[in-house]
Amino acid sequence: MSAIIVAATPALSGGPVDEQLIIDGETEIITRAPAPEGHPLDEVTSGWLYRTDETRALEADSFQNPGMLYVEQGETIWNTVDGAAGKSCASCHGDGKEFLKGIGAHYPKWDADAKRPINVELQINKCREANMQAEPYKFDAPDQRALTTFIRHQSLGEPVSIDLTSGDMQSWWEKGKETYYTRMGQLNLSCASCHEDNNGNYIRADHLSQGNVNGFPTYRLKQSEMVSLHNRFRGCIRDTRAAFPAAFSDELMALEVYVTWRGTGLGVETPSVRQ
Ligand code: HEC
Ligand code: HEC
Repeated sequence: MSAIIVAATPALSGGPVDEQLIIDGETEIITRAPAPEGHPLDEVTSGWLYRTDETRALEADSFQNPGMLYVEQGETIWNTVDGAAGKSCASCHGDGKEFLKGIGAHYPKWDADAKRPINVELQINKCREANMQAEPYKFDAPDQRALTTFIRHQSLGEPVSIDLTSGDMQSWWEKGKETYYTRMGQLNLSCASCHEDNNGNYIRADHLSQGNVNGFPTYRLKQSEMVSLHNRFRGCIRDTRAAFPAAFSDELMALEVYVTWRGTGLGVETPSVRQ
C-alpha cells in the first residue's frame, strides 16, 4: 500500500461513528445497510458517518445545511420557462415536489433512445432538448447542479436502488467494476485501494469512506459549492495523478452505474454536506 495512507490510530480515531442521521428530527436516513449480493464488503456505509461532529450536524439540520439554497434555486428553475417551445419542466410534469418523489433514487437508468444509461443530469438535458427545444446544460453549469440537487432532494431518505435488468445495464456494471479495480496514475491506486481496502483509515487529513454516492450532488465545505458526482469522480482520479476522463463519458457513466449499485440500500441524503 502506498505510504500516503495511514492506518487509523487512537489519535486519529478510525472507523465510521455509531450514530443515526435524522434530518430535522423527522426524516431518518439509512446510513448503514447490508451489502447487496456480490458486494465484497458485508455492510455499506454512508460517507456521513466518517465526517466530523460539526459537519454531520450541518447536514442533520436543513436550516443550517448550505446545500438547501441550491434546492430552492432548483425549484425556481423547475418552474421557469426556457427554450423555443415556451415550456418549463412544470408545464409537463406539474409540481416538482409531487412528480419527482422517489424518482432520483433510481438513477442511473437505462435509456432506450440513447441505448446507454443516463443519470439525472442527462435526463434533464434530454427533456430540455427534446421537450423544451432548449440548449442542453454544459457539464457543471450552476443551473444543472441546482436542478439536479432539487430533483434528488425529492427522494430524501429513499433507499438507493437501480435496475440492472433493463437494457444493457449489466454490461455497463461490468465495465464500471473493471474501472473500479484498475490501478491508475503515478500513485498506482484504484478506487478500491482507497475506498474498499482503506475505508476508516486516513489519507493525509482525510478520513476515507467507502466512496458511496447517495449524497450527491454534495455541498463541499472546502469549495463552498455544490459538487456534482462526475466532478468528484474526476477529482479522485486526478488525485492518483492519472489523466481523467470527460464527464458523462462511457467510462464515467459505467463507473456511476457500478458505484451507485455498491451503495444499494443507503438513503438518499442530497444535499449531503462533506468537507
Ligand atoms: C413537453 C413536455 C416535457 C417537458 C417540458 C419536460 N419533460 Fe420531462 N419528460 C417528458 C416525457 C414525455 C418523459 C418520458 C420520456 C423520457 O424519459 O424522455 C419525461 C421524463 C422525465 C423524467 C423521468 C421520469 C421517470 O419516471 O423516471 C424526469 C426526471 C424529467 N422528465 C424531468 C424533467 C425536467 C427536469 C424538465 C425541465 C428541465 C422536464 N422534464 C421537462 C416530458 C417533458
Ligand atoms: C487516493 C485515494 C483515493 C482514490 C484512489 C479514490 N478516492 Fe474517492 N475519495 C478519496 C477521499 C480522501 C475522499 C473524501 C473522503 C471520503 O469520503 O472518503 C473521497 C471521496 C469520494 C466520494 C464521495 C463520498 C461521499 O460520501 O461524499 C466518492 C463518490 C468517491 N470518492 C469515489 C471514488 C471513485 C469512483 C474512485 C475511483 C475512480 C475513487 N474515489 C478513488 C480518496 C480517494
